[in-house]
Amino acid sequence: MSNSSRLNLVQRPRRIRRTEALRRMTCETQLTVNDLIYPLFIMEGENTKVEVTSMPGSYRYTLDLLLKEVAEAHALGIPAIALFPLVAEDKKDNAGTESYNPDGLIQRTVRAIKQELPDMMIVTDVALDPFSSKGHDGIVSDDGEILNDETVEVLVKQAISHAEAGADIVAPSDMMDGRIGAIRQGLDAAGYTNVSILAYSAKYASAYYGPFRDALDSAPKFGDKKTYQMNPANAREALTEVELDIAEGADMVMVKPALAYLDIIQLVRSTTNLPVAAYNVSGEYAMIKAAGEKGWIDEKKVMLETLTSMKRAGADVILTYFAKEVALILH
Ligand code: PBG
Repeated sequence: MSNSSRLNLVQRPRRIRRTEALRRMTCETQLTVNDLIYPLFIMEGENTKVEVTSMPGSYRYTLDLLLKEVAEAHALGIPAIALFPLVAEDKKDNAGTESYNPDGLIQRTVRAIKQELPDMMIVTDVALDPFSSKGHDGIVSDDGEILNDETVEVLVKQAISHAEAGADIVAPSDMMDGRIGAIRQGLDAAGYTNVSILAYSAKYASAYYGPFRDALDSAPKFGDKKTYQMNPANAREALTEVELDIAEGADMVMVKPALAYLDIIQLVRSTTNLPVAAYNVSGEYAMIKAAGEKGWIDEKKVMLETLTSMKRAGADVILTYFAKEVALILH
């Protein structure tokens, strides 16, 4: 090339992308195994695992097999799991009373994991939907309203029963008003001052939860969740929810879903110094798996790119069904 055809540039950003070592050195965002929480589905029975049809590679496990899965996750360095139960239809009622049964599926599972792997952090979901005969996160009144304060009373009992079983982190995903403060008070009064609260603060009424509701058979039996979960069109309202949850005692706040809400993750990150979690939800997982199975995308690369984007947006912690796959790659 002749000298005359050379541009006279002061900045050539490509210089720092020239080699693999330079790219590694100038990398701004690191996705690590330490960032991951692995959500797992648990069911009654023995020696069985059933793949969730809309979530290839994700299973509902009986406790014996779940313990093996958790041990594998632990060996890979994943610091935490999040548990979700499949509850038998005959145990469901409007008030979700099974949710605080001291010998319920979640409570037994937490005890069993803590006995085998005490340093694996356990996050439990606090909400009524898997236990609700109506498939809602709260108690439903005769005229179909979701009753806020009555529901919060049950959520407090549920959270205390999880703490009693050994949960490290309770994660209210129900979106009732005032539940973080009530749960904090309830935990403290029961002596569980060290149990932390991961608040699903900005949780949207999202169609991305579809595969999860298949996994737990927990879809609403009527209506939708729009009177408690947030409108996907709203951003400022997310900050109101986050502010309230922090004022009420949240230790960590969450944005959910993650992929279509990266702007919300960034906004929340810029307004709090608490850890921010993002939930890479079931529908986000299903889309990548489905396109990967068809050979339309490189599944592993899209997975890593997607999770990295969540960290880049400001998430410290990511709940993802990909946790084990990611850990295997990063190991
Ligand atoms: C229940 C709950 C849901 C999810 C986590 N906790 C579903 C819902 O709110 O309907 C969704 C997780 C996912 O889609 O991966 N309160």
